[in-house]
Amino acid sequence: MAFEGMVFDSSGGGVRLAEHDPGDPVAMMRLPSPALSGRRVGLRPLLASDFEQWREVRRRCRDWLTKWEPSVPSGRPDVVEDRRAFAARCGARERERQLGTGYGFGVFVGSRFCGEINLNSIQRGPFQNAYIGYWMDEACAGNSYTPEAAAVLFQFAFEEVRLHRLQIAIIPRNRASRRVVEKLGIRSEGIAVRYLEINGVWEDHVRYAITTEEWVARRDEMLAAWITGP
Ligand SMILES: CC(C)(COP(=O)(O)OP(=O)(O)OC[C@H]1O[C@@H](n2cnc3c(N)ncnc32)[C@H](O)[C@@H]1OP(=O)(O)O)[C@@H](O)C(=O)NCCC(=O)NCCS
Repeated sequence: MAFEGMVFDSSGGGVRLAEHDPGDPVAMMRLPSPALSGRRVGLRPLLASDFEQWREVRRRCRDWLTKWEPSVPSGRPDVVEDRRAFAARCGARERERQLGTGYGFGVFVGSRFCGEINLNSIQRGPFQNAYIGYWMDEACAGNSYTPEAAAVLFQFAFEEVRLHRLQIAIIPRNRASRRVVEKLGIRSEGIAVRYLEINGVWEDHVRYAITTEEWVARRDEMLAAWITGP
């Protein structure tokens, strides 16, 4: 599958970005659309043509997922049932990518769509921060695909997007998601009270974070464990 500026490397080589001619100022101003890979998972932006398989997973996993997600405001187009709304969502993510304000990825194992992982609300200036969100198809869960996808996203965020801090916020009772950050060894910064609206309730969240300094110190270990290792 081909995307402009993107090389999908399934060999486990980590971040791969298409090369631009440094003499081409227009190309240099465009951030490449990335396709990334870990040992087993591939990450690439979702496309309008992914609608059928995305909808199948979202329909089947409705109860599994929505209890951990913000409620959908009434009157908003239903991205699960409305193909055009899904295409508009893909377009919005593409604009974020072009503006450098966010990077959304589908998580694939081979050609199978398994979930999503996103780098959201990128802030520059003195913060250089982004928030990571993720979800996994219940049928794909339990294979450590999410921690692997997160490690791939860490490398991209720190080494390509050049951020300083990444945060993952988790409701304390979400044991499965807390296992993800435990496997990655990410630092807890404690509880933020009534931090996010999830399924209609202002929920406390444990904020987990990793900074560039921690990434540099743990890079080899992380790459071996999740990206380049056997
Ligand atoms: C949280 C989530 C993304 C983890 O993804 P994953 O790829 O399954 O991650 P892992 O394979 O590392 O599993 C993490 C833990 O989930 C639990 N788990 C695994 N399979 C499970 C299943 N079928 N049902 C319930 N829990 C399961 C296990 O406790 C596992 O820890 P373990 O490997 O030490 O046993 C996924 O469970 C999910 O999408 N949950 C619903 C949405 C959600 O919570 N999103 C995150 C909000 S912060």
